[in-house]
Amino acid sequence: MAVLPIITAPDPRLKVQCEPVESVDAAIAKMMDDMLETMYLAPGIGLAAPQVGITKRILVVDLSPKDGPREPLRMANPEILWHSDELATYEEGCLSLPEQYADVERPAHIKVRYLDQDNTVQELEADGLLATCIQHEMDHLDGVIFVDHVSSLKRRMILRKLTKLKKQEALAGD
Ligand code: NI
Repeated sequence: MAVLPIITAPDPRLKVQCEPVESVDAAIAKMMDDMLETMYLAPGIGLAAPQVGITKRILVVDLSPKDGPREPLRMANPEILWHSDELATYEEGCLSLPEQYADVERPAHIKVRYLDQDNTVQELEADGLLATCIQHEMDHLDGVIFVDHVSSLKRRMILRKLTKLKKQEALAGD
């Protein structure tokens, strides 16, 4: 497995519409494993392919506690089959927006269909943090980041901070 560099906002590569995978073959399964390794190291609870520069509809999630056994979910071509009218609010963060957080409201319950690492169609019902996390990662596949769900004032504030951070890092790297 390999750890991949994570792209941080603002960056046009986080705005792309990702392509569905034809099938989950060995190469796609390896991408999923590389994404998981990258996510665990970061550390994070979810990662979508465009965050590591892959424009395919792939995401990984693992909400298991740090000291417990890992329970990774690997999804290709995820689609929401159903979502509740009821909404839930969580404070979201993102590996592509380091140290930035905001409350985001999303459907509280979802049913999602996807291809797993063995190219088998799976359906999963999720609520709580898992439902939020899957929807957050699915957004990335359509070029949407969590700050796109908050007020334009808050979004500008966060993106300004990140731009500043990038400039500082670029200077430090000279
Ligand atoms: Ni994210």
